Amino acid sequence: MQQPTFDKTVTLAMTGASGAQYGLRLLQCLLAANVRVWLLLSDAAQVVINTETDLQLPEGDDDILQGFLADRFAAKEGQLTLFGKRDWFSPVASGTGAPASMVVCPASGGTLSAVACGASNNLIERAADVALKERRQLILVPREAPYSEIHLENMLKLTRMGAMILPASPGFYQKPSTVEDIVDFVVARLLDQLGVEQKLLPHWGE
Ligand SMILES: Cc1cc2nc3c(=O)[nH]c(=O)nc-3n(C[C@H](O)[C@H](O)[C@H](O)COP(=O)(O)O)c2cc1C
Repeated sequence: MQQPTFDKTVTLAMTGASGAQYGLRLLQCLLAANVRVWLLLSDAAQVVINTETDLQLPEGDDDILQGFLADRFAAKEGQLTLFGKRDWFSPVASGTGAPASMVVCPASGGTLSAVACGASNNLIERAADVALKERRQLILVPREAPYSEIHLENMLKLTRMGAMILPASPGFYQKPSTVEDIVDFVVARLLDQLGVEQKLLPHWGE
């Protein structure tokens, strides 16, 4: 049987900041838009997903989790791959294999800091380090309130290195009436930045 082909590939990393819904909705929209997703989940992200959403992630190895998420979000064969936290042989761990775009959504203050100083102690940090060194698109979606000087310094540092800080700070001028509308505001901005067509929200002036 012929394998499906995908329009592009995006690395999506979810970390343990509040706002798991942003990352999951982004995953859903990318898959629906025929984008291949290479997914990275921190341990804390899994705790936050189980705490903040109705999704109860299965215990067990990454294959079980990948199958669960692929089913849940109707991924096509080969469209969703979940890489392990120490999978240094995965394509995202090298400039020769990493795709053009990576999003960290949501981005914890801890991961923000690790990326800003190039720690590379897990696959999320390494993949972001690769994106920076290769001058690829790297978007981080921090969620914290208030910000400390450390958070602000790290965001400035990352911006100066070419990464984009796209905070989880939804606008209200579209008059959202549900939590889903609020989530979609941020996800629409992310899809726009990734160059993925979206119909979640009209663009200004449309
Ligand atoms: C329910 C819950 C909500 C959290 N919310 C935030 C948050 O909004 N921002 C943040 O930076 N950390 C938040 N944390 C703490 C991070 O998960 C924690 O610092 C963790 O070490 C981050 O690890 P990671 O970057 O590897 O995912 C939260 C943790 C839990 C359990």
